[in-house]
Amino acid sequence: MKTSDIHSFAEYEKTYQISIAQPEAFWAEQAEKLTWQKKWDKVLEWDFVEPNIQWFVNGKINITENCLDRHLDKKGDKVALIWEPNDPDEKCIQYTFKELHAEVGKMANVLKNNGVKKGDRVCLYMPMIPELAISIMACARIGAPHSVVFAGFSSQALVGRVEDTKAKVVLTSDGAYRGTKTIPIKTVVDEAVLSCPLVDKIIVVQRTGEDVNMQPDRDVYLHDELKKVNAICPPEAMDAEDALFILYTSGSTGKPKGVVHTTGGYSVFVDYTFRNVFQMEEDDIYWCTADIGWVTGHSYLVYGPLIAGATTVMFEGVPTYPNSGRFWDVIDKYKITHFYTAPTAIRALMAAGEEIVKPYSLASLRVLGSVGEPINEEAWQWYNKNIGKEKCPIVDTWWQTETGGIMISSLAGVTPCFPTMAAYPLPGIQPVLMDKDGNEITDNEVEGYLCIKFPWPGMLRTTYGDHERFKKTYFSAYKGKYFSGDGARRDSRGLYRIIGRVDDVINVSGHRFGTAEIENAINQNIKIVESAVVGYPHDIKGQGIYAYVILTHDAENESIENVKTMINETIIKEIGHIAKPDKVQIVKDLPKTRSGKIMRRILRKIAENEISNVGDTSSLLNPQVVEDIIQGRV
Ligand code: WTA
Repeated sequence: MKTSDIHSFAEYEKTYQISIAQPEAFWAEQAEKLTWQKKWDKVLEWDFVEPNIQWFVNGKINITENCLDRHLDKKGDKVALIWEPNDPDEKCIQYTFKELHAEVGKMANVLKNNGVKKGDRVCLYMPMIPELAISIMACARIGAPHSVVFAGFSSQALVGRVEDTKAKVVLTSDGAYRGTKTIPIKTVVDEAVLSCPLVDKIIVVQRTGEDVNMQPDRDVYLHDELKKVNAICPPEAMDAEDALFILYTSGSTGKPKGVVHTTGGYSVFVDYTFRNVFQMEEDDIYWCTADIGWVTGHSYLVYGPLIAGATTVMFEGVPTYPNSGRFWDVIDKYKITHFYTAPTAIRALMAAGEEIVKPYSLASLRVLGSVGEPINEEAWQWYNKNIGKEKCPIVDTWWQTETGGIMISSLAGVTPCFPTMAAYPLPGIQPVLMDKDGNEITDNEVEGYLCIKFPWPGMLRTTYGDHERFKKTYFSAYKGKYFSGDGARRDSRGLYRIIGRVDDVINVSGHRFGTAEIENAINQNIKIVESAVVGYPHDIKGQGIYAYVILTHDAENESIENVKTMINETIIKEIGHIAKPDKVQIVKDLPKTRSGKIMRRILRKIAENEISNVGDTSSLLNPQVVEDIIQGRV
């Protein structure tokens, strides 16, 4: 028996119409499916100018009661979470709903014992170990908003995020296993907290067992703390609009912003979208390969599947260890039915060759998913043929950290899938395309800037500590509409294809970086005067990072190899390995307008190798530099 609400194309069409005609009644009906401690007084209050958005006003709810407690009666012994370690020879761990409930209760009590109270922000800097999933729910259990920082970020990047949330408690691990590597984690936190005087407690999970610095009075091991607690921790009554989590994401300015999601609307939205997009049946096994450090891990590894009472798989390792067949091995091992991954992973595994896939059966698979960036035709076809064996629908799900959950996607096996197209807006979602003058484009067969014109329960409510930035970033480009930062095409049937970012955000392997953020990091280097960063098409990563740099007079004779090494060093320090440029070009000058603004459009064309068509350069202050840059391109 399916747990979805929509089972046919006709039902989708009908539901969509109803959801648009009466959005409040529609979302109230979805909200009724969850357990509330107190029902809401009003479904929606909104204003996209101010902006101010509230869903399920005065309702009281705890998301973990919905993930765990309410399943205990009927499926307490069903497996909720399967954890697959990095090393295939290490034992996997499975938690039933009852066991996970107990673990979350214990962890919540550990947090309380260590001074965490409702409303306090808790920062989590952890690898993909079960304690990460358990900790985010433990925070939610007691009403402490969690802020997960992807464990690939540098200590400097961690400082920025910890400072912004003013977290006093950080959860981490001694180290992490990734493929053949053991990565220090605690030392990154140690370095970061030197600049975060507010942090007075670090709770450390022992994963690798290596010796780490434990500062008395500040650092405690989780296993010691667990000995002091029991599993009983009632779910805190949270207001629907209380913050559930903060997650930092990059935008067009240098500083990542803390996207704030609240409790009630987010719970309703991830539940509804998970059930209807993936169309799971009771005994299905679902695997989302995303890291919990990104929004996909929050919404569709932990919260969505667990609210829906599904079995969710969490993987500690990397797709290429011990070899490029690891994903396929794990699918056969657990008889995964639903597999959700990113185009960059598909392209990397595609490059490893079909031979690697052949030994695996993959017969359990019924639904495939894609997320994080546009999926190109070739990767889509490969995924469909070699993994789905041409019998699994592929849901290409478009959404963002800001949207909380899936916005545009086919519903698996219910609405048709078309290669490279996210396709159908979900019920309750009202996308519009805008032209450059700010007018809505109502025809089909058009391209425009993708906006959403009506609120949905999972949308962000603010950017942490800076509501003005929220307004400016999302609601000022097109009056009264949420602007996604993406461009999209609507075809003759009214279906959507996402083209990609139209702002200064680069999507590298599904990870977002602002060009300004990378430039700021590069410019920390004393031998660099100025830099400009753009994205360019990359076979595996989707987009690669192309950096144009101007060296100081003293450094003029440095070799390109030395320059790359020093840039990498600063990037690793300021952001992390994931933001290292793929290409670096040393230039004498950058093309600038008379007001001193870098003309990225031209730099983008050069990076894309579209040199016959760099566009008009006559308005530049220094048009002659363009030819030099073209000559020196890499
Ligand atoms: C891109 C990830 C095309 C898009 C959930 C968006 C996609 C950004 C798709 C958000 C898709 C995500 N097709 N592009 N199916 N899914 N994107 O915040 O540019 O990490 O704005 O959220 O990824 O990235 P974020």
